[in-house]
Order: sequence, then structure tokens, then C-alpha cells
Amino acid sequence: MADSKLRVDPLTANIGAEVSGLDLREELSQEQVEQLEAALLEHLVLFFRDQAITPEQQIAFSARFGELLVHPFGPIHPDYPEIIVLDQVRPVGEGTDIWHADTTYLEEPPLGSVLRAVELPPVGGDTYFGNMFAAYEALSPEIQEMIGGLRAVHDIAVPLVRAEAYGDSKLSLAEARAQWPPTTHPVVRTHPVSGRKALYVNRNATTHIEGLSERENEWLLPLLCDQVRSPAFQCRFQWEKDSIAFWDNRGSQHYAVPDYDVRRMMHRTTLLGDRPY
Ligand code: SIN
Repeated sequence: MADSKLRVDPLTANIGAEVSGLDLREELSQEQVEQLEAALLEHLVLFFRDQAITPEQQIAFSARFGELLVHPFGPIHPDYPEIIVLDQVRPVGEGTDIWHADTTYLEEPPLGSVLRAVELPPVGGDTYFGNMFAAYEALSPEIQEMIGGLRAVHDIAVPLVRAEAYGDSKLSLAEARAQWPPTTHPVVRTHPVSGRKALYVNRNATTHIEGLSERENEWLLPLLCDQVRSPAFQCRFQWEKDSIAFWDNRGSQHYAVPDYDVRRMMHRTTLLGDRPY
């Protein structure tokens, strides 16, 4: 039986919904998990307010939706390896300010992520989320047909070199490449649950489309990476302390607005995913 206290209020026609009537300090019932899964499938990102949960409770909540990933590199929480700590003061250029889905350089990129606001600047630091099904569907049928069978290379070197430059990783490129060599994913992936097609390239990891010349890549890849930029596919979330966003990494991308210079700290847990097809 569905939980009658749980409410899901859409933020826009294309993406995002605010969930109320849940206390995430408590263990979710199976019905609540299923309601949230259905809401995530429909809205791609769910927002929760006033959830003063501990790192253990964030891990327990996330683990109801799948197994957790330990991030290959970066600012890992000293006590909880499943939590990545995004602790930023001057975020311009650090990588979260690039439209992306998380860690697409993995052979099996994540299903989704749960992000909690721990500390925020007085103003600024909002996050945009984009619906990559809508972004794909808005392409002309001619471009859809052209990119239908293409695969693109995703490479850990792109975010890792940036993370090293900002002191966020000690992992060498050679070590990273040995463990996570560049991988390819379809430019248009099929969501494993809904079957919808999503555009699946991003400037944070995708280096090129296989089989195209450099000049063809220079033309096509930016066009596809920037398709998410239309406000028609987006919602903007204004964080408060203890707000949480839970997104589907297979059908959405996000962009953290780098418009602050006061500490902003977020805790992220990430759910293991599957091989895109
Ligand atoms: C992320 O890119 O995973 C974090 C987004 C944010 O900090 O708002």
C-alpha cells in the first residue's frame, strides 16, 4: 500500500520534483522505496528539504536503492569511503561547473547519486539539472538517425588532471589509466528501466566520437554536449542546509553554478550502475 503522507510535487514539466512527508533519519519501508523509484523514473531528480541526517543515515538511505560506489579518486570522507566530500570555496573551473553525468569514464557508470548540503554560502551555489531524454528528443530526426549507432570515448584523464590541478587527487594518471582505461559508451543510451533514449556525452569525460575525423568531432561533439543547455530541459535547485538531491545519472546531467566565494560543502553518495547500451 502506498504511503499517503509521501507527496511528490513536480518543479517543471520536464525535470525535478520536491518530495515531502518523509523523514530520512528513519528507515524507509519497501513501499516508500518503490514510490521514490517510480518518482525518480518520472522526474529524474528528487529534492528533499530539512533532512538533518548523519553520514551513516545518508549511506543507509542511498543503499536502499543499490550498492554504493567508492569513488576512484578525489576528496573521500576520512571515515566513510562511500562519501565524497565536495568542499569548495572558489569553484570556477573545478569541474562541477561543467554539464555532466557523474563518472561516465567507468565501464559501468553510476545509476544515480544522493547529494546533501552540509554547509552553504549565504547566497549562490544553486545546481541545475537537465533532462537528457528531452535533450535527445529535441534533436532533428536527421541528427538522431546520424548519431544512433555512434559510440564515444570517455576518459578518466579529463576530470583527473583537473582534480590534481586543484589538489583534489593524489592518484597518478598512469595508475588511474591502468585501473580505469578509457571506455566507450553509446552516444545515445537506452534507459534500462524506462527504455527511453538519452543523449550520453559530456565535456567532463567524453574525449571524442569513434570513427569520426578530428574535424568532424570538432563539429559534432560540442553540438551534442551543449544540447542540454536549453532552459526548456532544466530545473534549478536552490539549496538550503540539509537539502538533499537524488538524481538518476542515466537520464540526467547537472551543473553546479560557481557564483560564490564562501565555503560550500556537500556530501555525495553514488550508486553503482550498469553498462550503457
Ligand atoms: C556534482 O557534480 O556531483 C555536484 C553538484 C553540486 O555540487 O551541486
